[in-house]
Amino acid sequence: MITWLNHVAIAVPDLEKAAAQYRLMGADVSAPQALPEHGVTVVFIKLPNAKVELLQPLGEHSPIASFLEKNPVGGIHHICFEVVDVEAASKTVIDIGARVLGDGRPKLGAHGKPVIFAHPKDFQGTLIEFEQT
Ligand code: CO
Repeated sequence: MITWLNHVAIAVPDLEKAAAQYRLMGADVSAPQALPEHGVTVVFIKLPNAKVELLQPLGEHSPIASFLEKNPVGGIHHICFEVVDVEAASKTVIDIGARVLGDGRPKLGAHGKPVIFAHPKDFQGTLIEFEQT
C-alpha cells in the first residue's frame, strides 16, 4: 500500500530561524503558512523526491506543544507515506495489529488530502502519517 515518501515533519521552537538555516544551505523553502485548524504554522522545504515540513505550534491547543516540551530544541515529529487509498490503508494498519489514531477514519490533512495517523508505539516509536496520493 505504501508508495512514495511524501514528507518528514520536524517540530521546531523557532520556525523563522529553522527556515533561515535551510535557506542558507540553498534549499527551496516556502513562506510560512498558518494552519489554525491543525494548530501549526508550517514551512515546506521542497526537494526533488520529497518534502521536509517544519512545524511550529500555533494557538493554545497545538498538537505539537507537548512534543516540544519533551524535545525543546525540536525533533522529528512524524513521517508521511503516500498511499493510493487511505481507507484501505487504515484497514491494513488495523489488520496488521497496529492502531490508527482517533476514530480510524481519514481526515483532511495539511495538504487538503485525506490522511490517517498510526500509533507510534506500533511503528518503532515513530508517528506515521498516511496521505492519499
Ligand atoms: Co504530515
